[in-house]
Amino acid sequence: MANHEKFNFNTLEEMQQKAQDLHTDLHFSTDLSPLAQPRRVGTKTAPNSMAVLPMEGCDSNTDGSPSELVQRRYTRFAAGGAGLLWWEACAVVPEGRANSLQMMLNACNVGQFAALLKKTNAAAAQNNGAQHKPLNILQLTHSGRYCRPEGHKSRPIVPQHDPLLDPRSGVTDTTPMVTDAYLDALTERYVQSALLAKEAGFDGVDIKSCHRYLLSELLASHTREGKYGGSFENRTRFLRQTIQAVRAAVGSDFIVASRFNVFDAHPYPYGFGCDREDMWKFDPTEPMALVRMMVENGVDLLSNSAGNPYYIYPQVTRPFDTSSMGIPTPDEHPLESTARLFEFTRQIQKAAGDVPVVGNGYTWLRQFFPYLGAANLADGSCSFVGLGRSSFAYPDTPHDVLTTGQMQKQKCCIACSKCTQIMRDHGRTGCVIRDSKIYAPLYQQAREDASHREHSFQ
Ligand SMILES: Cc1cc2nc3c(=O)[nH]c(=O)nc-3n(C[C@H](O)[C@H](O)[C@H](O)COP(=O)(O)O)c2cc1C
Ligand code: SF4
Repeated sequence: MANHEKFNFNTLEEMQQKAQDLHTDLHFSTDLSPLAQPRRVGTKTAPNSMAVLPMEGCDSNTDGSPSELVQRRYTRFAAGGAGLLWWEACAVVPEGRANSLQMMLNACNVGQFAALLKKTNAAAAQNNGAQHKPLNILQLTHSGRYCRPEGHKSRPIVPQHDPLLDPRSGVTDTTPMVTDAYLDALTERYVQSALLAKEAGFDGVDIKSCHRYLLSELLASHTREGKYGGSFENRTRFLRQTIQAVRAAVGSDFIVASRFNVFDAHPYPYGFGCDREDMWKFDPTEPMALVRMMVENGVDLLSNSAGNPYYIYPQVTRPFDTSSMGIPTPDEHPLESTARLFEFTRQIQKAAGDVPVVGNGYTWLRQFFPYLGAANLADGSCSFVGLGRSSFAYPDTPHDVLTTGQMQKQKCCIACSKCTQIMRDHGRTGCVIRDSKIYAPLYQQAREDASHREHSFQ
């Protein structure tokens, strides 16, 4: 591993040279046409191969319905021209919310989601041509260890104890384990949420299993007893039965997706996808078996992610220049972190066959990402290029890339982690740098409020 460095490339050639010096397997192509390629997903088609990744704003109304900030965010994303909008984490039960303003869809507010979808689809068509209709996928979630449904107190719901994560997430010896009966009943809540999402006009739902929230931690619950823990068969049971139940309820004309962790960067027996002796070594055996299981059970779309954004190695999820408070600077170059994410997607796409996989890790590359995204699409290393922080900072990226063949570098995300810091401070988040009129004051406010609290998880 090389030393961490901030982004310092003036030209594509400089970045290519650094990628070569670091011996990374990063590919570049100046033919950007693959980004414009329409993509089949289940029975539907996305108008191009760029996707907005799910990005929580922690800013819905208290009942989970879209606030003005939420409406603004998705209208900007839709107008930006991506072929696929992967909507942020939306809780399936109130106790499973990661914060009191997390998105939540229910029978009372479904009409507000339907109205917003009409508005966002209209914005997409207005800015990108009448035929442009992005696919809208809603991410369904239960936050498990990271539940904080009201105020600032943590209310963790955990499938197993974890000596590294327990002290950092408010879990004590007396915190009860989530019961098998709770999990049995939870599947039906995913089904109900999926049916509501269909009613609202979404094109599909994601059974979220990444970033060490409940379903992600279940995949790694080696020490849990009973039918949801221990063996691979048991650890994947909840995800399998939920995919099956959702598919049976929504029919074939609705996308069932999963965004899942392929590699936790967490030691055995608490991590998924990691070598038992060396947690930094990827062991593809179980992740590949998981992909085969999901494909056999009818998923139409996958997105692989990795790591635990709440723990001390967030570069595994998102390469950055500056970390959020209290996070050490990693012992690797961001191009190496990027290459690891690309390699995961390459392997997952190979295992998934015709089922499209959305790749991630592109934002840190700034104005040069289209050249790497196009290369990955062209050689089948992914089916969509997914953009997270870049979408907060520069929502018009797909439109600019497709119409002008380039990005404006002064609009790019600078990977400063301030949007993450707002989340950690329990505020409402967005781009503090490029959307500063709205988010710089919210950042300051969240910082100040957090300074008055000693332990955010208590
Ligand atoms: C503020 C913030 C909120 C996020 N919210 C979600 C989320 O709701 N669901 C999810 O799967 N990932 C979430 N992510 C992770 C992103 O989708 C993405 O995987 C990550 O930022 C890496 O992509 P990027 O390099 O393009 O930013 C979030 C990331 C950030 C910084
Ligand atoms: S605050 Fe803006 S510039 Fe900083 S990481 Fe987030 S999206 Fe990027």
